[in-house]
Amino acid sequence: MRHSRILGTGSHLPDKVLTNRDLESIVDTTDEWIVSRTGIRERHIAADGETTSELALHAARHALAAAGLKPGDIDLIVLATSTPDMVFPSSACLLQKKLGIRHGAAFDVQAVCSGFVYALATADQFIRGGMSRRALVVGAEVFSRILDWKDRGTCVLFGDGAGAVVLGESGTPGILSSHLHSDGAYADILSTPGHVGGGKVLGDPTLKMDGGAVFKLAVRVLEEAAREALDANGLTVADLDWFIAHQANVRIISHTAKKLGVPPEKCVVTVDRHANTSAASIPLALDVAVRDGRIRPGHLVLMEGVGGGFTWGSVLARW
Ligand code: UT7
Repeated sequence: MRHSRILGTGSHLPDKVLTNRDLESIVDTTDEWIVSRTGIRERHIAADGETTSELALHAARHALAAAGLKPGDIDLIVLATSTPDMVFPSSACLLQKKLGIRHGAAFDVQAVCSGFVYALATADQFIRGGMSRRALVVGAEVFSRILDWKDRGTCVLFGDGAGAVVLGESGTPGILSSHLHSDGAYADILSTPGHVGGGKVLGDPTLKMDGGAVFKLAVRVLEEAAREALDANGLTVADLDWFIAHQANVRIISHTAKKLGVPPEKCVVTVDRHANTSAASIPLALDVAVRDGRIRPGHLVLMEGVGGGFTWGSVLARW
C-alpha cells in the first residue's frame, strides 16, 4: 500500500522585526496587553516587493535541502495562502518558476489559517492515489498587507512568514490520517471582504474579526478534531509526543491542550516569535521543533489548523 511521509522541513521569516514595543507607537496598545492576551512578543514584516512566493522560495529551499532532494525531484506543489502575489497565476506556479521546475502540477489552496493542514491532506491524497511521488507543501503569507494598522484589535496579532515540507511516497505510513472540516455559516466572524472588480478594489480589503467568537470556536473545534484524529487511529492523548496547533494565540493552544489533557511540555509554541502567520504557522512551528531535535523518528505528531471560512482540521503523522 502507498503512503506518504514528511522527508524534510524548512521555514523562513522576513528580516524586519516589529516588536510589541514598536507597536506601542503605532496604535493604543502595550507590550503587557499583547503578551498577556496572546503570548505574542514580536512579528516579522515583509519588505516592499517581498511576496508570498518569495518567502515560500526560501522555506522550500530549506525543506528540499533537509530532504536531500533537488527542485527537479518535485512533481507537485501545493501552496496554502490567503495573501497570494496576484489574482493569478497562483503563487504555487510563481514558486514553481522560481525553483526552475517545469513539470508536474502546482496550485494554491485557500483555507486561511487551516491552509497548511488542507494542503498537506491534499498532497497526501495525491501521493497515496498514485498521481504524485514527491510534493512540496508550503504555507506562506504576507498578512501585514491586509491589516488595518489603525485597528489595535487585529493589527497586533499577525505577521509574515513561510514554512514548507517535502512529502514523499513511502512504503510505511508517515501521515496516518487527515480530517478536514468547514462551515461557511461562520464566514462573517473572520474575513477580508474586499475583492477586485471593474479595475478597482471593491469593499474593505483589510482583515475583520470577532475575536471572542473566533477564540471560542477555535478551542471547541481543535478539541473535537484532536479526538477525531486519535479515535480514527485507535490512539489516545497519552500516545501523542507533540501537539502542533495553529499558532494564533498561546491561550487558544493552552486552553485546547488543557481540555484534551495534553501537558504543556508536549505543545510546540512559536507564536511568541512570529505572531499569527496564518497558513505558515504550523510548518513554521514544525520546522523549529524538528531542527531543535524535539521531534525524533518514531514520534507521534498531531498538527491542527483552524481559521477563516470557518475551516479546521488535523493531520496525524508518525515521524
Ligand atoms: O487564526 C485565527 C485568528 N484569530 C485569532 O486567533 C483571534 C482569537 N481571539 C483572540 O485571540 C482574542 O479574542 C483577542 C486576543 C483578539 C482579544 O482578547 P480578549 O481577551 O478576548 O479581549 P477583548 O476582545 O475582550 O478586549 C478586551 C479589551 C477591550 O477593551 P474594553 O472594551 O474592555 O475597554 C479592547 O478594546 O481590550 C481592548 N483591546 C486592546 N487593548 C490594548 C483590544 N485590542 C487591544 C490591544 N491593546 N491591542
